Formats: sequence, C-alpha cells, structure tokens
Amino acid sequence: MKRYHVTTFGCQMNAHDSERIKGMLEELGLGEAVSQADADVIVFNTCTIREKPDQRFAAHLGNAKMLKRADPEKVIAVGGCYAEAQRERLFDLYPFVDVAFGPGTIPHLAEWLGTGGTAPRGRFGTGEEREFAGGLPMHRERRFQAWVQVSMGCNSVCSYCIVPAVRGREVSRRPGEILAEVDRLADEGVREITLLGQNVNSYGRDLGSSFAELLRAVDAVEGIERIRFTSPHPKDFRRDVIEAMAECDAVCEHAHLPLQSGSTRVLKAMRRTYGRERYLELVGALRAGIPDLALTTDIIVGFPGETERDFEETVEVVQEVGYDGAFTFVYSPRQGTEAAASPDQVPEEVKKVRIERLVEAVQDSALARNRERVGGVEEVLVEGPSRTDATLLRGRTRRNTTVNFAGTSAPGDLVDVRIDDATSTTLKGEQLAAVAA
Ligand code: 5AD
Ligand code: SF4
Repeated sequence: MKRYHVTTFGCQMNAHDSERIKGMLEELGLGEAVSQADADVIVFNTCTIREKPDQRFAAHLGNAKMLKRADPEKVIAVGGCYAEAQRERLFDLYPFVDVAFGPGTIPHLAEWLGTGGTAPRGRFGTGEEREFAGGLPMHRERRFQAWVQVSMGCNSVCSYCIVPAVRGREVSRRPGEILAEVDRLADEGVREITLLGQNVNSYGRDLGSSFAELLRAVDAVEGIERIRFTSPHPKDFRRDVIEAMAECDAVCEHAHLPLQSGSTRVLKAMRRTYGRERYLELVGALRAGIPDLALTTDIIVGFPGETERDFEETVEVVQEVGYDGAFTFVYSPRQGTEAAASPDQVPEEVKKVRIERLVEAVQDSALARNRERVGGVEEVLVEGPSRTDATLLRGRTRRNTTVNFAGTSAPGDLVDVRIDDATSTTLKGEQLAAVAA
C-alpha cells in the first residue's frame, strides 16, 4: 500500500484543510505514514502569514528534497497559502516539487494526484477554482471535536496582512450545507464544533443571512454541547451576535477578539476601521451580555511607525481588558502588503524589547484571571493524557482554558473538575466523583 505524510503549518483553517487532504488521500487508497521518510506522497500544507512559518517550511522542504534524491518515485506536493503567494515561481524555486495547490483547491488535489498517488508534474490549483471542501471525506484527529468551515477568504484590507491576497474575497457557505454537516457530525458523536472563517462574524452578508442566525441554528442541533468560533473581527461584532452568544446554551463563554494594537493612530494605519475606544466599548458590551466571559486576543508589536507612546497604549489596553490569553507577534513585513512598503520600519532591537514587555503584561493578566478560578468547579471536555504529567488527564473548560487534572474519565467525556491551582496558561485540579444516581 502506498503511504502519505502531511505536514501542516499555520492556522486552524489550515489544520482543518489538512484533515480533508488526509481524508482524500485515504479515499485514494493511501495509508498514513509515520514520517516523511516512510511516505510515497509527501504533502506540505503551508502558511505565509509571518516570516517564521516560511523559514520552517524551507527547512522541511530541504529534507524532502534529499528524500526525493534518494527515491525519485516520491511525490512532493505543496499546498496552502505559501504555495499561492509564490505561485509564479514555486516550480522554479523548487524544481523537485511535483504538485502545487492553493488554499481552497483541495477538491482538485485528488484529480492531480490520480488514483494510486502518481502525480502529473507541475499542476497548480488557482484561487479562482476555490471550493468548499465540505463534501470531501475527512480524517478527524478526535472523534468528539470538529471544525466546520463557514466562509472562505477575507474582504478586509489590513495593511500588514497577506491573507486577502492568498485566500481571495470572502464567500459564505450556504447555511443548509453547514447545518447538514453539523447534523452529520453530531450523529457521529461530535460534541464540540468550532466554526471557522477568516472573518467569521461577517458570515452570511453575501447570502442575506447572518452569523447570529447561524449560531442559533447550530445551537439547536441535538448532541452539540459546545460551539466555538474563530476568528471574529471587532468591526463586525454586532449586538445580535452578543445576544445569540448569551442565549444559546451551547455557545461557549469565550471570544477571541483580535486587538492588534491599543493605539488608535496605529489601528488607523493598519486599516482596522475601529479605534481604541470602540474596541473597549465592544469589550464592555460583551462582558455585560455574557457573564464570566473569557477574552483572548492577537497583538502585533513593531508595526511601521509605532512609537513608544503607541506601544504603551497597547500595554494599557492589555491591563484594562484583563485578557485570559493572547497570541503576541513581532511585525513581519510581507511582500506585496501596504505596510511592507512603509519607510518607517521599527528596528529589530526595539521590537524585541517591546515583545518581551508585552508578553510579560499578557502573562500577568492571564495569571490573575486564572487564579480567580481556583476554588471553583469547571466543566471540562476531556481530550487525553496531560502533556506535562502522564498520571494526569487534560481537557478544556468552556472558557477554553487547558486543565490538567487527576481523574478517571475517557477522552470525549464532560466532567466536573475542582480547580486548586493555576499558572498563566493552565489550570490544575481534581475530578469530582460522579454522584451515584
Ligand atoms: N506580522 C506580524 N503578525 C501578523 N499577523 C498577521 N499578519 C502579520 C504580520 N505581517 C498576526 C495578526 C493576526 C494573526 C493571525 O497573525 O495578529 O491576527
Ligand atoms: Fe497562514 Fe493565514 Fe494562510 Fe492561515 S490563512 S495558513 S494563518 S497565511
């Protein structure tokens, strides 16, 4: 039997695309290989949002090149955002790559690979051929959790971001199609759904529908006990979505609300279309509507022209909001984006000092938030053994915090855990004994 190996870079959207790629390769009769060296078909699902994933991918590709030199029969496929960004020169840069495909063109991958996994060299799926992969077979990592794609592409024009260039304009998937997929997943035993879109809460505008309506419809599906979504854009977070979050039992008490910067001046240069005050008003409305809400965010430091004062404003917002967690990034110029052409690039040493200070502020905030949970009881969806201590189990709360705990349950169970300790990223506790019926 021929075997495949898929390596994924980047966001949850890419992780989800990889599940489809794996499912499709299995349908073609290939089995999963444990490593690239053991595989007949090596697939890279790439990301190009910052420089780091580009560099990691380049290192992997060097390894694949050597494997192919030793065994020229190996097929090397490169998909996703980096492939799309470099489509004009990918085969020139890497002549040993056999197949390339952009994000959202997975349905065509099977055609190119052909039955049995032999590749017609040099084909490229373009952005114009994008399709929802909803009907494709899927290889899910966990039987009780699933991602569901609700839209693709992004209509925003954030001046730092490469995504609109590689994922195209926003297209929403029809609600009936999404609900049919959620129904099917619920029948298969899925309890937690994460709705995915580059700008998930602008869902439906092109169809005369809305994200709030979609949340309510998914909430009504029997068996789905937790609904998450990522990532929303603060500019599109309307009252109807806050109301749906508050009223739908299955929608989790968590919002990932990318701030990017706490300075209105920088936000304007980023073309985010909200300022510091409007963001803080939104946080207030969310907190008022949804008691016990966890808030996480994305923040960039060192955007071109960012002054010491601008950066201080970002730290102030972190302290004022009291985030439960944040992904923090050093600005990385992406070729072809508006900000990359700015003459006011911030020196690397300055970026380094700022990111360290920001990480500290985020940790302080997250630790204080997690400590508030100590002594309480959290509902945890069990995911498997703890990564740090094999005698413990690991799972996540509705607020999306990881919990390591002593207990006896199986993955997929929902259990109550008493919290007795906290770090800035995890909680620790003990499962409550089930009360006998
Ligand atoms: N440089 C640094 N961070 C970036 N992000 C997007 N583009 C860039 C860039 N050029 C960050 C944003 C976004 C997250 C997914 O990645 O914070 O929300
Ligand atoms: Fe990376 Fe963005 Fe593409 Fe996701 S959408 S894989 S984060 S470039």
